[in-house]
Amino acid sequence: MAETNLQILLRRRPQGAPVAEDFEIVETPVPQPKPGEVLVRAQYLSLDPYMRGRMSDAKSYSAPVAIGAVMEGQTAGEVVASDVPGFAPGDTVLGGFGWQRYSSVAPGRLFKIDPGEAPLSASLGVLGMPGLTAWVGLEDIGQPKPGETVVVSAASGAVGQVVGQIARIRGCKVVGIAGGAKKCEFVTEVLGFDACIDHRGDLDAQLDAACPNGIDVYWENVGGAVQRAVFPRLNDHARMVMCGMIAEYNDTSPAPGPNLMSAVRKRLRIQGFIVSDSGWPRYPQFRTELLGHMASGRLAWREDVVEGLRQAPQAFIGLLKGENFGKLVVKID
Ligand SMILES: NC(=O)c1ccc[n+]([C@@H]2O[C@H](COP(=O)([O-])OP(=O)(O)OC[C@H]3O[C@@H](n4cnc5c(N)ncnc54)[C@H](OP(=O)(O)O)[C@@H]3O)[C@@H](O)[C@H]2O)c1
Repeated sequence: MAETNLQILLRRRPQGAPVAEDFEIVETPVPQPKPGEVLVRAQYLSLDPYMRGRMSDAKSYSAPVAIGAVMEGQTAGEVVASDVPGFAPGDTVLGGFGWQRYSSVAPGRLFKIDPGEAPLSASLGVLGMPGLTAWVGLEDIGQPKPGETVVVSAASGAVGQVVGQIARIRGCKVVGIAGGAKKCEFVTEVLGFDACIDHRGDLDAQLDAACPNGIDVYWENVGGAVQRAVFPRLNDHARMVMCGMIAEYNDTSPAPGPNLMSAVRKRLRIQGFIVSDSGWPRYPQFRTELLGHMASGRLAWREDVVEGLRQAPQAFIGLLKGENFGKLVVKID
């Protein structure tokens, strides 16, 4: 029997937290590459919080996934056939091919990578979009200096684990915030952060103990109660890197916000950013720097690998509840 393509489609827009019925799993024929296209067989799919935004048609920085279309996502895989010079069967590539096994794409959307440099799944996490996000946000906005205190929320996650380790390598005191003792232990013992706070406990008391000199850089991944506890502890001239607010992605009405008057009084710089604005042209520089840290043993990373593309909807639903531990990827085979 000929092999088929396995695809996961958006069946309908979620109301609040996504459920399995919002997705549809279908088998379709393997696409035939058109002239100028490359046929790719995906081996790993990255699952990321931004996908919740793509499921919604609320106004955003990016267009929503259409109802009935393949869910958007980054994958890493192998070229099966190519009508494009520079890409040959057997090449390893990275690109936004979506929640599906096969895709036929134009070369502008492909990065050729050397599979000998690192495990393939790492190119979706520590060496992928989340790692690039960490690096760009620190370079452009956080600008941590030796001796400063850097606080990172969702510290054991895909972005947070790279943010904290780069800051640590640059000589900062790094304090993570994560959900539960197991994640906190990983953040201090494996990632080497100076301390980690469990956001399920008393945030105020733990922040006072871990950050006696206040906070110079806050990396915001979460929002909500964590943001409300961190905000009053920011020092003069602190930088708050507004990366994401996952605690609010399933909300159906806006939460009350912090009093941003402090931003005026303290001359804070609070700047949001989207990694795709300026990140990808700098990808080679980022990859070289991070590979150097990996080779010297100074950079650890943790992945949460789910087996089988059919498990992607359930794993994504869990990501929005904090069930993943480390960068969430799907092993497609
Ligand atoms: N601006 C950009 O270009 C850009 C690019 C990539 C990612 N992001 C953002 O960066 C953030 C982290 O993304 P990621 O890929 O690294 O995800 P991740 O941290 O690997 O996974 C999500 C984590 O968020 C935490 N979380 C979920 N719901 C929460 C809640 N209600 N309260 C507190 N914590 C909660 C959980 O960790 P705990 O159990 O430890 O709480 C969960 O494991 C997200 O906000 C994402 O949207 C932004």
